[in-house]
Amino acid sequence: MTLSFWTRRKSIDAMAAGHDGHQLKKTLSWPHLVALGVGAIVGTGIYTLTGIGAGLAGPGVILSFLIAGAVCACAALCYAELSTMIPASGSAYTYSYVAMGEPVAWFVGWSLILEYTLVCAAVAVGWSAHAAGLFRMIGTPEILLAGPHMGGLVNLPAVIISFAVAGLLALGTKESATVNMVLVAVKIVALLIFVVLCLPSFDASHFTPFMPNGFATVNAEGAKVGVMAAASLIFFAFYGFDAVSTAAEETKNPKRDLTIGIVGSMVICTAIYMVVAAVSIGAARTEVFSKSEAPLVFILESLKHPRTAQLVALAAVVALPTVILAFMYGQSRIFFVMARDGLLPKTLAKVNAKTGTPVLMTLLTGALSALISGWLSLKDIAELANAGTLAAFISVGLSVIILRIKDPGRQRMFSTPIWPVVASGAILGCLYLFYNLPTKTQVYFLYAHLIGVAVYVLFGLRNSVLARAEKAST
Ligand code: ALA
Repeated sequence: MTLSFWTRRKSIDAMAAGHDGHQLKKTLSWPHLVALGVGAIVGTGIYTLTGIGAGLAGPGVILSFLIAGAVCACAALCYAELSTMIPASGSAYTYSYVAMGEPVAWFVGWSLILEYTLVCAAVAVGWSAHAAGLFRMIGTPEILLAGPHMGGLVNLPAVIISFAVAGLLALGTKESATVNMVLVAVKIVALLIFVVLCLPSFDASHFTPFMPNGFATVNAEGAKVGVMAAASLIFFAFYGFDAVSTAAEETKNPKRDLTIGIVGSMVICTAIYMVVAAVSIGAARTEVFSKSEAPLVFILESLKHPRTAQLVALAAVVALPTVILAFMYGQSRIFFVMARDGLLPKTLAKVNAKTGTPVLMTLLTGALSALISGWLSLKDIAELANAGTLAAFISVGLSVIILRIKDPGRQRMFSTPIWPVVASGAILGCLYLFYNLPTKTQVYFLYAHLIGVAVYVLFGLRNSVLARAEKAST
């Protein structure tokens, strides 16, 4: 067998040519993009992981938000450059196919499939923590409200929401801009109310010691703790902004609108997250609220605001499913593109003529999300999702550097400012976050990719469109 697969690359020109002149209408401006970004970003990360992060870092979790936000901002700028330069869907997977060739693209695509499925599962668990009160009201027994790691049998609400969103998507539901705007408002207003109600109880003494577990340390049980371990987990709270870069083609003034849209949504979310974390810590000690699965609701209850606590929980119940919807949609899109490239079986990605959606793939993602969210812990799921995302972000930073060197003359509608610094910042920052993930997560990531390599060798290596073209030309 030859090693020709190493050099299989897609060309930007061929992709642009394959676009058959189809252009999306340029209707979006930066306020839409900021709303799109904030809508996909704000979810389980802030509503639930703030607690687990505070348990790992103590009050220093504020720094964790800052670090994860800065790394994501670098990655986001790289995304913006590539999405305006490479006119094709598939995000990081497609950029890698162009810049680094098929095997790397496969690795990135597999990472994205892992990420998207696990994000759906993680948000389903976060949703369940907020919906548990409603499920109790209708008489659901406790053992059906938590997975085995919490002493229960199965996290039934998480299973239900996974299937419900997959069902909606399979029926052809799309994210609607208006609904998205309303839900963004619901999520943000709930967080603002939380901040306003917590402020009067702010106790600055809760901030000392600031980093009880250090910056990046290993505790007596051998677990990674401290600010960086929390940053590696909290990283989850920031992604979803690739939604903004995928709207590049529909943007009126990409240079201005994308910069404001991407950097704006990142800055807004980082600021909101840091304020929410700060008032949470001011209102209750981290060692207390870090035990709760719905820390914001827990803090409001402990401050004797039971009604508002219920409202915040309700806001999460109403708004979080759109995050699942966005990622499930992303999952089917990546799968679709990979199948079109011949790297995955086309039958799985077949689009239903009636609904216009890949029904089988969507339901499979729903079932996987249900299985994972019903039985595993949020921390484990989110960290593995982060591993996949970090791999994709690293590939995006690398793609920017490689294409700047190999194809400097190509028109870039949006250019990453001081690209050597920003792209290296994304790569090194993501590597450092990956390094600070639990060893168990890193090992699972490796296993997932060993399976991925086997799938590639057994299927994609021979069946990819580029492999067939090679065969045909010999
Ligand atoms: N950033 C998204 C969330 O926190 C994935 O739910």
